[in-house]
Amino acid sequence: MIPKVKLSSGENIPQVALGLWKNKDEQECINTIKTALDLGYRHLDSAQAYENEQFIPRGIEAAGLKRQDIFITTKIKVQNFAWVDKSFATSLKKLETDYVDLLLLHFPVTGLRHRAWKHLEAIHKAGQAKTIGVSNYTIKHLEQLLKDCEIKPAVNQIELHVFLQQPELLAYCKEQGIAVEAYSPLAHGNGLDDPVLAEIAKKHGKTSGQIMLRWCIEAGTIPLPKSTHEDRLKQNIELFDFKLDEDDMAKIKTLDKDMRTCWDPTHIL
Ligand code: A2P
Repeated sequence: MIPKVKLSSGENIPQVALGLWKNKDEQECINTIKTALDLGYRHLDSAQAYENEQFIPRGIEAAGLKRQDIFITTKIKVQNFAWVDKSFATSLKKLETDYVDLLLLHFPVTGLRHRAWKHLEAIHKAGQAKTIGVSNYTIKHLEQLLKDCEIKPAVNQIELHVFLQQPELLAYCKEQGIAVEAYSPLAHGNGLDDPVLAEIAKKHGKTSGQIMLRWCIEAGTIPLPKSTHEDRLKQNIELFDFKLDEDDMAKIKTLDKDMRTCWDPTHIL
């Protein structure tokens, strides 16, 4: 069973999710969700921009589970920041539910993010999002938000992996009680052949991918790996029967090279 961690909202979140980015093909997405749920996943990370919210209820049904068994995340896409409520109502319809477990602002959109956050606060108060948070926020964006929000974001979802370790942002989020979710925790598969990872993997009888994901767990974050293959989906949750020791962590520290595979929000005003 995948352990859960408590968020500042009081809700419990399974510590590994199935990331659904790029999983747009209807049948493949439904099959992936069903396979993942059969394997024990209970946390699905979607977004308006992923165009697959509507497949989630069918994947859950195919696995013989109920909506309330699953922790569902969606995100308000950049193009919808000016009409958050309307777009969120569409998401709920697609997800065939009257609430999501976690609702995020997908990106720190200049000029619009502050008002968009007010809408998330109202959605949370209305019970339609049990937890609210942000994604791709840097320390600067979080500082601005924390200055005058009514409800603090409980989560910041960022690109995070052994090649992009972001220690300052992790420390800041920890200090503020904001849980960090790690997207692209496998760096999209880049770097899986790294010799340092291979050596640590051999020592623990694991794969390099599992070492990358376990590093996210050791860093206190919630990794959201993506895969459409059963063997990898299985591997990606087999992370709780071993630990990385100090020596492993010291070696992994040397792999940090600020390597982004996705959006870079650093210069967003
Ligand atoms: P696939 O879907 O063919 O399994 P990230 O989550 O960092 O974006 O990485 C996703 C990429 O990594 C996908 O291309 C996925 O391919 C691949 N992947 C997922 N899990 C593993 C794994 N355990 N080992 C190797 N590659 C993986």
